[in-house]
Amino acid sequence: MGQQVYIFDTTLRDGEQVPGCKLNTKEKLELALKLEALGVDIIEAGFPISSPGDFESVEQIAKAVKNATVCGLSRAVQKDIEVAAQALKYAKRPRIHTGIGTSDFHIKAKFNATQDEILSRAVQAVKWARNFTDDVEFYAEDAGRTENTYLARVIEAVIAAGATVVNIPDTTGYCLPHQYGEKIAFLKNNVPNIDKAVISCHCHNDLGLATANAIAGVINGARQIECTVNGLGERAGNTSLEEVVMVLQQHKDLGFYTQVQTQQLNPISREVSDIMRMPVQPNKAIVGANAFSHSSGIHQDGFLKDAQTYEIINPEEVGAEGSKIVLTARSGRSALAHRFQKLGYQYNRNDIDVLYQSFLQVADRKKEVEESDLHAMAQAYKPEPAMA
Ligand code: KIV
Ligand code: ZN
Repeated sequence: MGQQVYIFDTTLRDGEQVPGCKLNTKEKLELALKLEALGVDIIEAGFPISSPGDFESVEQIAKAVKNATVCGLSRAVQKDIEVAAQALKYAKRPRIHTGIGTSDFHIKAKFNATQDEILSRAVQAVKWARNFTDDVEFYAEDAGRTENTYLARVIEAVIAAGATVVNIPDTTGYCLPHQYGEKIAFLKNNVPNIDKAVISCHCHNDLGLATANAIAGVINGARQIECTVNGLGERAGNTSLEEVVMVLQQHKDLGFYTQVQTQQLNPISREVSDIMRMPVQPNKAIVGANAFSHSSGIHQDGFLKDAQTYEIINPEEVGAEGSKIVLTARSGRSALAHRFQKLGYQYNRNDIDVLYQSFLQVADRKKEVEESDLHAMAQAYKPEPAMA
């Protein structure tokens, strides 16, 4: 089975920060219960100090969720941490997620501070959070652009102060996969107490590398991935939950597994898309409308002979409707014959040769040839009578 990678879902926190995706308490609670049923290990329910509504959402989720850890975000500020702890009071497994920016951009521009001052604030925050729960996660915001030796000093100090999970966010989605992987390996090799904490990857998708970076992190020693359904999140989004889960599932050779029920991936993707009114791009991996559609003649022919020629995932495994053969002007005779057969028409090779010409006429006019077009072609088709 290999080693478990914990799935930390932040759809309700980083995902909900997307303009237009804000949810009320009822909607958040409904999704939290679905995320728990999906099998995620940790649900980041919100940022309790940010608004009374978010406090209420975290509190309700903390009361309702039975198996997953429920997490609340805070800055490295005493009041934030206290409010997060209060919102999590009823959780079976509460986690406080606290942290501070560690890159020079943050230290100088945001805090006008020194590295030592930031390190001390990080330590104070973790110590304070440990008064409320034994499960404290520390985030080093913009770790992706933080120089590794300083990052290692901060991580060592927060673990010594009681952090049980250390989150290494690539907040701006800047790192290349090998750089992010090397950063995690650097921490593994240079932080003496690193074995006392779980390393977490939190990657943003500004360069489209969030999934690749999270996987590079895991290969180099991280054991938690922070992600969102449909990859929702600030700007270009976060690591997509369905992608990382299926990467680890497909590449069993890497030696990792998650507790996620993969058949729920498409249903939850639709739920999130509907409730947040955020359409999923059709070519999105795993959950996009075209993820299992085949439209070119070469692919269709291969797929009809053996699905594995052009599909690495069985759609049922991820709860998708099934593979689709889409008829377009790029489709071939095998696909046309297949679709006619599915509609109950029995045609031989010659029939298909003739019908294919009318099909191309229609296909050049339309983006997709539909069932009604096929019926019309069949009605119009008068096969030559067989020779006596
Ligand atoms: O991207 C980020 O750095 C974050 C932290 C608050 C964890 O979302
Ligand atoms: Zn983030």
